Amino acid sequence: MTRGHGLRKALAEKFDDELKFFKGWIDKPKTVGSIVPTSAITARKMASIVNPTSGLPVLEVGPGTGVITRAILAQGVRPENLYAVEYNTDFVRHLRQLYPGVNVIEGDAFNLNATLGERSGMIFDSVVSGVPLLNFPVAQRIAYIESLLDRIPAGRPIVQLTYGPMSPIPAGRGDYTVKHFDFIFRNIPPTQLWIYRREAH
Ligand SMILES: C[S@@+](CC[C@H](N)C(=O)[O-])C[C@H]1O[C@@H](n2cnc3c(N)ncnc32)[C@H](O)[C@@H]1O
Repeated sequence: MTRGHGLRKALAEKFDDELKFFKGWIDKPKTVGSIVPTSAITARKMASIVNPTSGLPVLEVGPGTGVITRAILAQGVRPENLYAVEYNTDFVRHLRQLYPGVNVIEGDAFNLNATLGERSGMIFDSVVSGVPLLNFPVAQRIAYIESLLDRIPAGRPIVQLTYGPMSPIPAGRGDYTVKHFDFIFRNIPPTQLWIYRREAH
C-alpha cells in the first residue's frame, strides 16, 4: 500500500465515523451530544483507567462509533471482557461489525437494570462513559453515576467526558468522590475528563 493510499484510507475511515456520528446527531441531537467523535488522545486517556489484569470485565457506556472502544481494547482488555452499552441502533450495528467479540448491548444507560437484564448483577473493573450528561437534570446524572458505582468495586474509577467547565456530577451529593482528571484541548470541542469513585475502606 502506498503512503497516499494509506492516508486516503485513513481519511475515508475517519470521514465514515464522522458521517455515522452526524447521522446519529441529526436523529437524536440530545443523546449524541457532539457531532464529531472523540479524538484518539482523549480516547487513550480515558482508556488508561482500566485495569486489564483485574480479572473483571470493563463497562463502556455510549461508545458511539467506537473510538474509545478501540483504545480500551488496545489497553489489553480482551473483547469478550468488554461490555458496551449503546442507545443508537446504527451505532450498535456498526460496533458489532467492527468489534465482533465485544458484548455490544443495545439499550438505555440510564436504566441499566433493564438494559443489562440477566447481566444486571455483574461487577466490572471500571467504567468509561461517553454518555452526554449536561442535557439531563442533576438528580438524574447523580442517579446515573450511583448506578454505575454500584457495579464496580469501591476504589475503582468511572471516567466521564464532558464539554462543560465543571464536573457534570456535583460533589457532596452522594458517597462518591469527584476528581478532575484532564483537560484535552485537542478534541472537538475541547473536553474535560472527570473521575468518580467510592472510597475503599
Ligand atoms: C458524545 S457521544 C460519544 C461517543 C463516543 N464515545 C465518542 O467519544 O466518540 C455520546 C454517545 O452516547 C450514546 N448515548 C446517549 N445517551 C445514551 C443512553 N441513555 N444510553 C446509551 N447510550 C447513550 C449516543 O448514542 C452516542 O453514541
